[in-house]
Amino acid sequence: MFVCLGNICRSPLAHAVFDHEAATRGAGDLFETESSGTAAYHEGEPADARMRETALAHGVRIDHRARHLKKADLDNYDLILAMDRANLAGILKLAANPQQREKIRLFRDFDGQAGPDAEVPDPYYGGPEGFEEVFRIADRTCAGLLDQLLNTAENESDK
Ligand code: 4NP
Repeated sequence: MFVCLGNICRSPLAHAVFDHEAATRGAGDLFETESSGTAAYHEGEPADARMRETALAHGVRIDHRARHLKKADLDNYDLILAMDRANLAGILKLAANPQQREKIRLFRDFDGQAGPDAEVPDPYYGGPEGFEEVFRIADRTCAGLLDQLLNTAENESDK
């Protein structure tokens, strides 16, 4: 579960990039993915046109309607990935128990080029270069995330 504030820019992108990269690796069937926002202002809206156009220019189609993160999502998903630290704090407020809390991480913990506590910057009020930067971060981080998840899957099947 990929989570940002509005679920119209960063998290629908991360969700689409992850699905695209998983499918490219022949691993699309292994994951159930979704994205959501800690705020509900954009509920039901398609992703921001600037984000969709940037993704499409890189061959990734975003086909998603915004929805907000619900308490039940913290039980239903194994990994809840926050785009920034404010999102992380919002998600942790919803968490009711340690089992839920231990699933909640910063997305960029899986970015091999980022230091600790790195965030995906919010591109909403900026120019096109911000959307490009978000794409590059999402692309690299989803690759790192898949490397880790697929290695784990291989290790577990070895047991
Ligand atoms: P997102 O971007 O959290 O990446 O979807 C934003 C979308 C909307 C707003 C802020 C950030 N907003 O203030 O409406």
